[in-house]
Amino acid sequence: MAKIEQEFLARENPREGDFQARPFMPRVGNVDLGTEPVDGQRFYSPAFMQAEWDTIWTKTWQIVTRVDDLSEPGAFFVHELGKESFLFVKGNDGVIRGFYNVCQHRGNRLVQAEDGEADAFTCPFHGWQWNNDGSVKTVADPQFFRQWDNGVPYDELALPPVRVETWAGWLWFNMDLDTIPLKDYLGEPAEHLETYEFEKFDMIDYQTFEWNGNWKHAVDAFNESYHFASLHPDMIEFGEGHDIPIELLGIHSRMLNFNSTVSEVVDDRDTITPLRDHFALKGLGSHAAGYSGSAKDIHLEIVRQRREQEDDSYLPLKRMNDEQLVHQYHYTFFPNTTFTQTPGSGVVFRYRPHATDPNKCYYDFLIMQQRAPGSPKRERPPHKIHRHRERVNYGEAFDGTFDPILANVLAQDGSNMETMQAGVKSDSFKGMNLCEQELRLRHFHQTIDKFISGELTTKTLPPSDAYLLKGPRGTVR
Ligand code: FES
Ligand SMILES: [Fe+2]
Repeated sequence: MAKIEQEFLARENPREGDFQARPFMPRVGNVDLGTEPVDGQRFYSPAFMQAEWDTIWTKTWQIVTRVDDLSEPGAFFVHELGKESFLFVKGNDGVIRGFYNVCQHRGNRLVQAEDGEADAFTCPFHGWQWNNDGSVKTVADPQFFRQWDNGVPYDELALPPVRVETWAGWLWFNMDLDTIPLKDYLGEPAEHLETYEFEKFDMIDYQTFEWNGNWKHAVDAFNESYHFASLHPDMIEFGEGHDIPIELLGIHSRMLNFNSTVSEVVDDRDTITPLRDHFALKGLGSHAAGYSGSAKDIHLEIVRQRREQEDDSYLPLKRMNDEQLVHQYHYTFFPNTTFTQTPGSGVVFRYRPHATDPNKCYYDFLIMQQRAPGSPKRERPPHKIHRHRERVNYGEAFDGTFDPILANVLAQDGSNMETMQAGVKSDSFKGMNLCEQELRLRHFHQTIDKFISGELTTKTLPPSDAYLLKGPRGTVR
């Protein structure tokens, strides 16, 4: 057990209670997933990419955007995944629907804007039109279509639908019309995250980074903290990523990164340096000036303060367990959506495959913030795709919405994509040797393999506690 965990558990608990989210501590063991190397070809093989498309991307639930982006009738949002483009739109009848964004005349991309408002969508090629409920509005000059002399088959020409559902203020979709309900797919981890009350959050920024690596390299880059000490030396000055709790939750998983402390691998864990002041002590707000303890213990004081404030805060602190009050809850829903969360703010990472090239992916960064009551809604900067070839300046990619030091951390994470993609192709590469702190990666790749082989489908998902050594939910605390 890491030092920080011992220190956290040894503190005087400011509140005992029936918290909705099951905490990570005391730590729960996971089943043995073995020690076999994970092969490299999954990152570059076109056949593997196609198998993922057939068994995973077209079958699993995917996050789209905030429901409040589609609050007005006619509001639409276009989302790309792999070779497909999807149109999500609130009809004049108030129902949000999702469709393949494809003109049913000759296959043109129907809507070529990213978002907007429309009563109807007109294909620029020959002017066919669809209403915002997906039904056909106009077939230009139907008399020219001899095959429809007896009547145009309007129902068949409606935009092909996808399944849509909402959870926690987010719109999700699934290409498989016959899939299971979203809540059943998300399982227990969704319940944990509901305590943050995402419905009250705004998406304050959404940026996309094109990376020259397979999408799974990007997932893997963020689903372990074993790399912190080497790649992010700044981060261990104000947080702990060394030997942290990990849980496999059905096909999903989570880990706990400790905030507002100093890693056990750092010699001086006590001094309040400028970096620790900025990222840890400021979390105490107006109480920061009076703090005279060790830098490693700031998180304990933050928990104490937030418990004291829970009756008066606009944040749902009362619903959170002590870990959630200060630390970073990091959840990944299979296959490609991560929530990394603290009270009142968080980031959603979404990883998308390239349309044709297994050597490229898109990394979406969606910044969420809960607004204080009475404060105005912040206008979101324009969404931009930052192309890899542009040598992205991560600090400038965010319009004051993300701390520059953390943006530099992101640059460090992105810096390995191209070199990982190159290295795993080497004839000498015998597979990835994963440690127990990389257990989520092993579980992720095994889950992918099970989907591809047909051993797993959305109809045969393991329960959320299938991989945990201790008993069913609720017995751990
Ligand atoms: S391709 Fe869309 S109207 Fe012809
Ligand atoms: Fe990282």
